[in-house]
Amino acid sequence: MASEPISKLGFPGSSSHVPEVPVDSSSVSVTAYFTGQVWCENGLAPAEFGTRVGRFAYLLALPFSKIAGRLVGADIDTFLLERHVLLDYLLTRAIEDDGVTQVVEIAAGISPRGVCFRRRYGALRYIEADLPGMANTKRELLQRHDWLSDEHSVEACDILTDSGPQSVEALLGGLDATRKTVIVTEGLVNYFDLETLNVFWSRLARASARFPECRYLTDIYPDLPNHPLHRVTQLGQGVIERFARNDWPLHYGSDDSIADGFRAAEFKEVTVHDPDDYRETLGLSKFRYPSVVRVVEAR
Ligand SMILES: C[S@@+](CC[C@H](N)C(=O)[O-])C[C@H]1O[C@@H](n2cnc3c(N)ncnc32)[C@H](O)[C@@H]1O
Repeated sequence: MASEPISKLGFPGSSSHVPEVPVDSSSVSVTAYFTGQVWCENGLAPAEFGTRVGRFAYLLALPFSKIAGRLVGADIDTFLLERHVLLDYLLTRAIEDDGVTQVVEIAAGISPRGVCFRRRYGALRYIEADLPGMANTKRELLQRHDWLSDEHSVEACDILTDSGPQSVEALLGGLDATRKTVIVTEGLVNYFDLETLNVFWSRLARASARFPECRYLTDIYPDLPNHPLHRVTQLGQGVIERFARNDWPLHYGSDDSIADGFRAAEFKEVTVHDPDDYRETLGLSKFRYPSVVRVVEAR
């Protein structure tokens, strides 16, 4: 999708247009098993996070991953790791440099981030959230290994629901309003169109105003028509859409338009991070092409 002018996006307050919001994105949950396995295979998750479905999906994707490795010099894992490691890094900075003590990870899936950060920072409160089915799976996994506590919980949350116990408003409303907070989403936003995302982001921005400080960290895959891997990204898009049985649109055509989009969705400060700027700091594999993902830090 080409980048659209901000005026056409139907932001809340900019027109009376009410976007058509999809009502069910639960088919996307299967992708969490795959990404969860990728974190395991690359030593970013304890072995307990490995699942049978994840291992099967990972094996199924292996031939394509190897072909991608040969054709473009980076396999599927390499593409996914750069967003994951950069998000971890920005979260670490928020905790260590800015005194954040509360993290809410929406669409956490089978990600080990909660467990890893709780191990590292004993005083951190970590709330994982996902659609009810995935939240139950995650809660059972954490419970089985005794990883849940007063400071680490799993809640049901559907970003498409704007009221009731599963809404983002209820999730954030139940947190400690005195703590500096970070909200994380990873591997979520490209499953929705921009109209849906702008409604979600505006609600998130408003609901997070109750914290003394709150920042939102998310990855986003932009549509970069001049990128040398644009065709490959489009092929990947088709594969993801089949696997997830959901659209997977690319959003915005440049870092500037990403920043403008987040500002229009009521975030005041927006920084767009390019993994290429962190390759040495984070030990990310050197890649012969520019990165295809961005990580946004919005306050
Ligand atoms: C690609 S997985 C990413 C999981 C995890 N963040 C990671 O990176 O490993 C996408 C996640 O989005 C969740 N999801 C899909 N639709 C959602 C919604 N409407 N509200 C909250 N989470 C949703 C799925 O259940 C799934 O866990």
